[in-house]
Amino acid sequence: MKKLSLVVALIGACALVPAAQAQEPIVIKFSHVVAMDTPKGKAAEFFKKLAEERTQGRVKVEVYHNSALYKDREEMEALQLGAVQMLAPSLAKFGPLGVKEFEVFDIPYILDGYEALHKVTDGPVGAGLLKLLEPKGIIGLGYWDNGFKIMSANKPIKTPTDMRSLKMRIQSSRVLDAQMRALRTLPQVMAFSEVYQALQTGVVDGTENPPSNMFTQKMHEVQKHVTLTNHGYLGYAVIVNKKFWDGLPADIRGILEQAMKETNAYNNEIAKKDNDDALEGIRTSGRTEVHTPTAAERKAWVDALRPVHKEVESRVGKKVIQDFYKATGQQ
Ligand code: LMR
Repeated sequence: MKKLSLVVALIGACALVPAAQAQEPIVIKFSHVVAMDTPKGKAAEFFKKLAEERTQGRVKVEVYHNSALYKDREEMEALQLGAVQMLAPSLAKFGPLGVKEFEVFDIPYILDGYEALHKVTDGPVGAGLLKLLEPKGIIGLGYWDNGFKIMSANKPIKTPTDMRSLKMRIQSSRVLDAQMRALRTLPQVMAFSEVYQALQTGVVDGTENPPSNMFTQKMHEVQKHVTLTNHGYLGYAVIVNKKFWDGLPADIRGILEQAMKETNAYNNEIAKKDNDDALEGIRTSGRTEVHTPTAAERKAWVDALRPVHKEVESRVGKKVIQDFYKATGQQ
C-alpha cells in the first residue's frame, strides 16, 4: 500500500513538472542606450506593457535603459549571440554589421521632414532595407522615429565655416564621417554613453543629435551653442534575434507582432512633440544659445553638405539612394 502511494505521488509530481515549466515566462531582454524619457525609451515601455498584458504574463519584457546593460557596439553583438532578444539601435549603427545600405538615412539633407521620412519607412523601400537583416540572423520589426539633428559646440556655429577644425563626436557611420569631413571637422566615433563626459572634459568639442537626446542626456549643459541645422535624420529600426523570434509559439509571436505594430504607431506619434518639447527645454534652460539659421546660412549648410550624396554612393549603394529620391519625390 505504501509502495502504491509512493508511485501515485511520483506520478503526480511528474505531471506537475510540465505545468510548472509552462508557467515560466518567456523573457525578452530589450536593451537600449537612451534615457527613458525619450521616444525610444517610452516606446520600449509601451511595448512591454502591451506584450505582458496581452500574453497574460507568458511573456516578460525586461527593458534596460541608458546603456545599463550594453553600450552601442556591444548590444549588436549581444543580440546576435542571443544574450538580449530585442534592440532598437539607431539606423547609423548598422554599418558595422555589414548592412551599409542603412547609412543612406545618415546622408545629410536626404529627408526634409517626417512626411518624407514616412514615405520611406512606411513603404517598400523601408521594408526592403529590413529584409537585408535576415541573413545576419536578425529580423526587423519596424521603424521608430526620433528626429532631425541639430549641431552643438562651445562656440557659435552659424555657418559651416564656423565648424572648421572642431572635434565632433559621431556614431559609427561612414556617412557621418564623410559629412563631418565635408565640414572640415575631425570626426570621432564614440559610444553614446560616453558623449556627455567627452563634451564636458573637452575630449570632443561638439556633437550632433536630435533635441530629445541632447536634452535628456543634459548635453546642453556642457555645450554653449546649438544651431538648428536639421541637417540629418536620426531614428531606429526595432530588431530581434531571428532564432529566438522564429522559435516562439505561433500564438505568442502573433500577439507580439500586433503589439509591436501598435508600438510603432505610438512611437511615431510622440516623436515630433518630444523633440519640440526638448528643444523648448534647451531654450529655457538658459545654458545654451539656440540659433536658427537665416535663409542664406541654411543655403551655406546645404551647399557644404550636398556633395556628400555623391561621395558616399559607392559605400551606401547608388540604388538605395535613388530609391530614397524617388520615394520622397526628389526625382
Ligand atoms: C547616438 O549614439 O547618438 C544615438 O544613436 C543614440 C540613440 O540611440 O538615439
